[in-house]
Amino acid sequence: MSRLKTKHLLGIKNLDREDIELIFQTTANFKEVLNRPIKKNPSLRDVTIANVFFENSTRTKLSFELAEKRLSADIINFSASGSSVEKGETLLDTVNNILAMKVDMVVMRHSSPGVPHLLAKNINSNIINAGDGTHEHPTQALLDTFSILDKTGRVEGKRVVIVGDILHSRVALSNIFALQALQAEVMVCGPPTLLPKHIGELGVEVETDIRKALEWCDVANILRIQLERQQMRYFPSLREYSQYFGINKQLLDSLNKEILIMHPGPINRGVEITSDVADSDHSIILEQVENGVAVRMAVLYLLAGIG
Ligand code: CP
Repeated sequence: MSRLKTKHLLGIKNLDREDIELIFQTTANFKEVLNRPIKKNPSLRDVTIANVFFENSTRTKLSFELAEKRLSADIINFSASGSSVEKGETLLDTVNNILAMKVDMVVMRHSSPGVPHLLAKNINSNIINAGDGTHEHPTQALLDTFSILDKTGRVEGKRVVIVGDILHSRVALSNIFALQALQAEVMVCGPPTLLPKHIGELGVEVETDIRKALEWCDVANILRIQLERQQMRYFPSLREYSQYFGINKQLLDSLNKEILIMHPGPINRGVEITSDVADSDHSIILEQVENGVAVRMAVLYLLAGIG
């Protein structure tokens, strides 16, 4: 019986190709189940999961919750806003109190990089990182990479450009690790101020001209400008960003080739992507969201030791 070589999902950096392929095989099975009239599966019937979110989320939070319900787990949801964190309770006290209620697995989102790693060292439970600051967002990268595989039949050899705010993006880092583990070629493209200085050392191509990047790639994964994480101005205005790095239909039509368009969400329509691209036949943005539930079911199932 195949198993993951880890008790936690802290980042893609901690997974190897075999782990990712096992998650994708399991995801494909769950995707098939999710397309049946009866979508529920009893696998996690005796497992209790806490979704602990210290930062806002729509897709990740709902997707984990639905994945847990599809697997028949018992779940509790915690949001820092409105909780005793606002009275000064520490992170570890909060999590230890949640675990005292006999919780088996913790899904954690936090604005500080490394929080899931801190928890994994200090508590006796499976930890799944649902996004830690600017560090990693492993289930997003798994669903992005699975979506490329599902749509095109392979990841190996594909040329994938990640466009935009690479500096503040946990999605970018996790995608780079996942794509490279599966032998894809990766490029990052954005304004020089939003590209980390040493990003090339990760073995990715680096480009600041969006046209050249699009001419190079098979797949473009377009990121949101994360204004909430920016302490200074990295470009003159959103209008200028859109003019130089925004993906619009006119630009794509001028390339004379087809590119698969992805976006992890939330979208800033008219900034990094126009509606005629986001809603076009080349876009798989909502398929990414659909695949996210099956990917998260696979991760929960495998980490619970059932796989
Ligand atoms: N992609 C993503 O993480 O979206 P949410 O912030 O809505 O969860």
